[in-house]
Amino acid sequence: MTSPKQLLRNLKSLSGPFLSFDVKQLPENPGELFLRWLNLAIENGVKEPHAMTLSTIDAEGCPDARVLILKNVVGDKFYFASSSESRKGQQLKRNPKASLTFYWPILGRQIRLRGTVEDLGDEAGAADFKERSVEARAVALMGNQSQELENEEELEYSLARQRERIKRTPEITTLNWRLYAMNVWEAEFWQGDIHRKHTRIQYYWVDGQWKHRRLWP
Ligand SMILES: Cc1cc2nc3c(=O)[nH]c(=O)nc-3n(C[C@H](O)[C@H](O)[C@H](O)COP(=O)(O)O)c2cc1C
Repeated sequence: MTSPKQLLRNLKSLSGPFLSFDVKQLPENPGELFLRWLNLAIENGVKEPHAMTLSTIDAEGCPDARVLILKNVVGDKFYFASSSESRKGQQLKRNPKASLTFYWPILGRQIRLRGTVEDLGDEAGAADFKERSVEARAVALMGNQSQELENEEELEYSLARQRERIKRTPEITTLNWRLYAMNVWEAEFWQGDIHRKHTRIQYYWVDGQWKHRRLWP
């Protein structure tokens, strides 16, 4: 049997071919470069390019991470939505510093963002909630995200109840569902190279403005 080490060694990574990354044509801020890259990702058929890893810090200072969907980008604010009662919601309440990471394999591109997350308030949360599908609203209405689930029946029962509530009161919302924005203060755009001569551009916020520099691979 193939050992895990051999199994992993046999896998290819960064095999390309990749798009070029012209570092002489950089916009002034990372939000703009992100949107350029996002458009290219969509044009090139990257699956779920809006799926990103949100990393947070727990009360003991230990990192935690999970995948979320990017909801919007406005300037250098990156939006996502979740339950304030979830583990991440609790962690963000305690420590709003976080990071977001994207990886688009067929382009060999990684984007790393660091920043401070703000909860955008009741109205913004409710507006995002209303845009969700019935199923997604029913799940959010249950409100126990990240709590222990004792059995499947309990979940089915709770979901059926929430679907019923939505049918009776279509405009129903929950304060648990929050829209968050991460205000970015550091961003890195990484273009992989098949010969491992990767191109890295880091933006950093200093003295009230964005600067950028190239990093060693
Ligand atoms: C592709 C993908 C998209 C997801 N999108 C969201 C999302 O937008 N919001 C959310 O709360 N959870 C989303 N999840 C589930 C989270 O990864 C996570 O399991 C959940 O939010 C609980 O995380 P927590 O226990 O750290 O709070 C998504 C998972 C995947 C794989």
